Amino acid sequence: MRKKDIFFKTKRKVTVLSTVIVFLCLLIFAIITKTLYTSIVFSHIDKQLMDERNVYTNVLSRGIDGRDWRGIPKLPPNIIMVVQGGNGVALVNQNYYFDSENLPDFPENTEDKIVTFTSGDYTFRGIKFHFNDLKISLIINVDSEIQSVNQLMSSIVLSFIILIIIALILSYYLSSKIMKPVKEAYDKQVFFVQDASHEMRTPLAVIRGKLELLANKWGDTIDNNFDHISKMMSEVRGLEKLNSDLLLLSKEDVDGSVNITEFSLDEFITDVSEFYVDLAEIQEKSFDIIRKLDDNTKVNWDYNKIKRMIIILIENAFKYTKEDGNIQLIFEDLGKNIKVTVKDNGIGIKEEEQERIFDRFFRSADVRVKSISGSGIGLSLLKSIAKTLDIKVKLTSKIAEGTEFNLLIPRIIK
Ligand SMILES: Nc1ncnc2c1ncn2[C@@H]1O[C@H](COP(=O)(O)OP(=O)(O)OP(=O)(O)O)[C@@H](O)[C@H]1O
Ligand SMILES: [Mg+2]
Repeated sequence: MRKKDIFFKTKRKVTVLSTVIVFLCLLIFAIITKTLYTSIVFSHIDKQLMDERNVYTNVLSRGIDGRDWRGIPKLPPNIIMVVQGGNGVALVNQNYYFDSENLPDFPENTEDKIVTFTSGDYTFRGIKFHFNDLKISLIINVDSEIQSVNQLMSSIVLSFIILIIIALILSYYLSSKIMKPVKEAYDKQVFFVQDASHEMRTPLAVIRGKLELLANKWGDTIDNNFDHISKMMSEVRGLEKLNSDLLLLSKEDVDGSVNITEFSLDEFITDVSEFYVDLAEIQEKSFDIIRKLDDNTKVNWDYNKIKRMIIILIENAFKYTKEDGNIQLIFEDLGKNIKVTVKDNGIGIKEEEQERIFDRFFRSADVRVKSISGSGIGLSLLKSIAKTLDIKVKLTSKIAEGTEFNLLIPRIIK
């Protein structure tokens, strides 16, 4: 429930935040569009008004009698002209809106300025100026322009609403997509802790049982109870290995840093295999190292990580073969890549388990039954390193016949 809450809240936050950002962008867009459109529409009208004002001022200043309107240029049909003299209205040209009874009502203190004003249900843009004792007003009805600005605004508001809904749906969808890998990583972490504690339960229960047993044998000798003590020691060693493996695995998952250096494969092969040559002798198994390489082949690898991968495979090969087992470690130069093969003739892996052996803590039922020690982390660590270093891993196995792992490692890892 708590887990669900965390993801739901984050998803909601991301959705709201991105929708708010889209909203603000659209709002700015709407304001700019309206301002620009309005100024474009009115600039044409204003220019017309100004031109006519200049024409009339010029004509009148050339001394033509303002009361004799013959000889004065004709007005464009959309301009209304009202001339008021000292003793009343001198002229109102023919129009639908004003006459000598109903004069335009300019706002206060707007002499020689273009202004917008209303009269009845109509809106106008106009300029009022004085010439001698004449008061001249030039006016244009702008209802259609205002209507087109309003229409533009309603289309903007409508698209605004549609876009906000789309943004809301999209950001919810995207936030779910973004949260998916986070959620998966979170789930993985939870399962990891659950699995790890589950794996620890059995050895801890064994140790506890043995300790209780020993506590009831007060006064008995260590000799008599050596079996119990050695079982406890082996469980503790198992726990120690589990602990260090878990640490390595989580480091690999979280950090994944690489340290590439150039080195010679010959020395590397000796370093990796030395211990197992001796182990093979002790366990009476054969361990062959086959080099299909030129002498002194150099590689650019992360020494420790690749060594760990190969050791994981060799350890498994030893663990899952019987006494007369045969293990081969083959290094093959393929030009761009080096192919490393670890091959055994051991117990093999069932086909249906071959995918799962790379999962954390997975161990085949057979090896659990046979009480072969291990915690099921080796191959998942190998997979993790392979992912970091871009190494291809191939597995071929047949139950009761043997197993072969191939690593295809680029000669130069970048
Ligand atoms: N060479 C092999 N032959 C047969 N089975 C194998 C081989 N290598 C791996 N397996 C199977 O895959 C399982 C997972 O191997 P992995 O190395 O991840 O864990 P482990 O060996 O059980 O424990 P550890 O973490 O100690 O290595 C093994 O338990 C075993 O069942
Ligand atoms: Mg292993």
